[in-house]
Amino acid sequence: MPFMMMRINFKIILLILIVAVISSILTSWNNCGNHFFFRSSDWKTRFQHKQTSLQDRLANEPGYQEIDCYINGGYSIGCRKEGDEVYVPFSFIHKYFEIYGKLAIYDGLERFEWLHSYSKIVSPKGKYDSRGVFMTFENYNVEVRERVKCVSGNDGVPISTQWESQGYYYPTQIAQFGLSHYSKNLTEPEPHRKLIEDSDRVKQDWSVPQGCVVIRIYDKRVGSYVLKYATPETSTSGISLKMDHVLDFVLKLDLCIRDNSSIAIELQSREKKDTYYLHYTTGNLVLSTVNNHIYYGIGLMNNRWKRLTRDLVVDLQKGLNLNDKNKKKLSRSKLKVVKMVLYGSGMIDNVTLSTSEHMEQFYDAARWFVANQNITSGGWPNPVRRKVASGMATLEPGWYSSMGQGHAISVLSRAYYHSGDERYLQAAVRGLRPFRVSSSKGGVTATFLDKYVWYEEYPTTPSSFILNGFIYSLLGLYDLKSIATGKDGDEAAILFDQGMTSLKNMIMLYDTGSGTTYDLRHFTLKTAPNLARWDYHSTHVNQLLLLNTIDNDPIFTTTADRWIGYMNGKKAAHN
Ligand SMILES: *[C@@H]1O[C@H](CO)[C@@H](O)[C@H](O)[C@H]1NC(C)=O
Ligand SMILES: *[C@@H]1O[C@H](CO)[C@@H](O)[C@H](O)[C@H]1NC(C)=O
Ligand SMILES: *[C@@H]1O[C@H](CO)[C@@H](O)[C@H](O)[C@H]1NC(C)=O
Ligand SMILES: *[C@@H]1O[C@H](CO)[C@@H](O)[C@H](O)[C@H]1NC(C)=O
Repeated sequence: MPFMMMRINFKIILLILIVAVISSILTSWNNCGNHFFFRSSDWKTRFQHKQTSLQDRLANEPGYQEIDCYINGGYSIGCRKEGDEVYVPFSFIHKYFEIYGKLAIYDGLERFEWLHSYSKIVSPKGKYDSRGVFMTFENYNVEVRERVKCVSGNDGVPISTQWESQGYYYPTQIAQFGLSHYSKNLTEPEPHRKLIEDSDRVKQDWSVPQGCVVIRIYDKRVGSYVLKYATPETSTSGISLKMDHVLDFVLKLDLCIRDNSSIAIELQSREKKDTYYLHYTTGNLVLSTVNNHIYYGIGLMNNRWKRLTRDLVVDLQKGLNLNDKNKKKLSRSKLKVVKMVLYGSGMIDNVTLSTSEHMEQFYDAARWFVANQNITSGGWPNPVRRKVASGMATLEPGWYSSMGQGHAISVLSRAYYHSGDERYLQAAVRGLRPFRVSSSKGGVTATFLDKYVWYEEYPTTPSSFILNGFIYSLLGLYDLKSIATGKDGDEAAILFDQGMTSLKNMIMLYDTGSGTTYDLRHFTLKTAPNLARWDYHSTHVNQLLLLNTIDNDPIFTTTADRWIGYMNGKKAAHN
C-alpha cells in the first residue's frame, strides 16, 4: 500500500507562518491575557508596534530569518529561525527520518498530520478460525496487482510476473488469490446474479445467421437442457445475443466446445463508446491483445464440460495493459456488456453475470493445488530462479517455499471443510512432506543453532529465517491440524507445536528497539540487518496478535504492544 506523501514546499510553510502570525495578532488584539504566540518578555513592545503599523510589520518583517542548517558536518540545508526556535523543512525531515506527513482539514481547520509509520494495525476481530476468514485477506485484491499478468483462462488462477516477465505460476500468489476470495465470500454482501441463458428457465432469442444452427437438447451427462450450436468455419458474425448489462461483470458459464471454437463478449464504455472484444478461445494461448481484441486461451475441452468463471473487467484491463503498461484504469461503473457471440461449435449452459463469484474463484485455486502438486515430494514448485541476497546461493527453479506450502494447506483445508471432498484433504496432508526435509536437501526446514526448527519461505543457503513467511506457514499447519481428524491432523500438530516453540524462543531476535528485521541475515550472513519496512512490520504485529488468539502465551501480546509503540515513534530506552 503506497503512502502518498504530500509535498510541503516552502511556499506552503511560508503561508502557514503568515496565517499563524495574522491569527495570533488578531487573537492577541481582543484577548491580551492569552498571548500564546509571542514570548511574554517581548510581547508588550510587539503588541504596541502592531497596533500602530500592522500592515507595515507584515510587509517588512516576516518574523523569521533564513538560516543555514549544517547537517553532521557534511552539508547544509535552508532552515528558518524565529526567536530561539529553529524550523527545519518537513520535506527534509521526511527523507532524513522517514517520517510521513500531510496537510489535512480537521474540524474545519487545516492542520499538519505527522505519522511515524504509514502502515496500520488491524486487530483480529475474534479467535482465529481455520474455517473462516484468513488473516485480513478479505481486503486483498490479488488479481489486480501489477505483478499479476492476468488470470489464466485455462486454470482461473493468477499468473505472476514478479520474478520473470513472461509469467509463471507462483503458488504463494495463487493461494493468496484463493484465500482472498474465500474471505470475501464470508465478509461481502450477497452478490447480485442474473441468469442469462440455461435452455431451461431462461431461453434467449439468439441471432442465428444463415448457415448457423442453434438447438436446445437434453445432455444426459449433466442432467440438464443445454444450448447446442454450430457456425460454419468461415462465419465472421457468429451466433450472437445482444445485451445491455451494467454493474455485474463476473461471467460464469458451463461450456463444452470443439477445438477452434470461441466465445466472445463485447464490452462498451458507456460514455466514450469504445468497444472492446474479449475472446475466450480453445487452446493454450495465455493472453494476446490486438487493438481492442483480447484473447484468452481456455485450454482444450476434449469433449468434456468445463466451468469458466471470468471477471470481465479484470480480463479487459489486463489485456489492455499487456501492450501498454500505463493504460488508464477502467472503471466498472463506466462499462457495459453489449453482446455475447458464439463461434465454431459446441454446447453452453448456465450463463450468468454476477457481482462476484468468490467461491468459484476460490475453487479454481483449490483445484490448481490438487492438479499441480508433485505427488512424490508433496511440494508445489516455484518455477523461477531466485536470488534472495548477495552471499546466499541462488535458488534454482523448482524450489519449495514454506509459505507457499502453508498457504496452499490453508486453501486446501478450507476447500475440504467446505466441500467435504477428500482430494483436498489428501493434497493438504501431502503438502506437509517438504516440512520433513531440510532446506538444504530440497525441503523447507532449517534449524537455528542446531536447536530450533524453522520453516523457510526461501530455502536459502545460508538460511534466511524470514519471519512473516514462517508465521504464514504456521497458520497453514494450524489450519490442517484444526480441520483434519485423526492421524491426518497429528503431523500438522507436531510441526505446528515445534514451530511455535521456535517462534517464542526466537522472536526477540527480530526486535531492533525501534522496529523489526525482516529476517536474520545479519546473523547468518553477518551483514547489516534487513530492516522490515512498515508494512512488513505491521504484518509482524498483525500476525502476533492473531497467534495470540490461539495461544495465550504473554510473549505475543507484550511483544506486539512494544512493536505497535515503534510505529508511534517509541524507542527502547538506551543506557
Ligand atoms: C458465498 O458462497 C455461498 C456458497 O457457498 C453463496 O451461496 C453465497 O452467495 C456467497 N456469498 C458471497 C458474498 O460471495
Ligand atoms: C447447469 O446448472 C444445473 C443446475 O445447477 C445443473 O444441474 C447442470 O448440470 C448444469 N449444466 C452443466 C452443463 O453443468
Ligand atoms: C484449428 O485451426 C488451425 C489454424 O486455423 C488449423 O491448423 C487446425 O487444424 C484447426 N484444428 C481443428 C481441430 O480444426
Ligand atoms: C517430484 O519430486 C521428486 C522428489 O523430490 C523429484 O525427484 C521429481 O523430479 C519431481 N517431479 C517433477 C515432475 O518435478
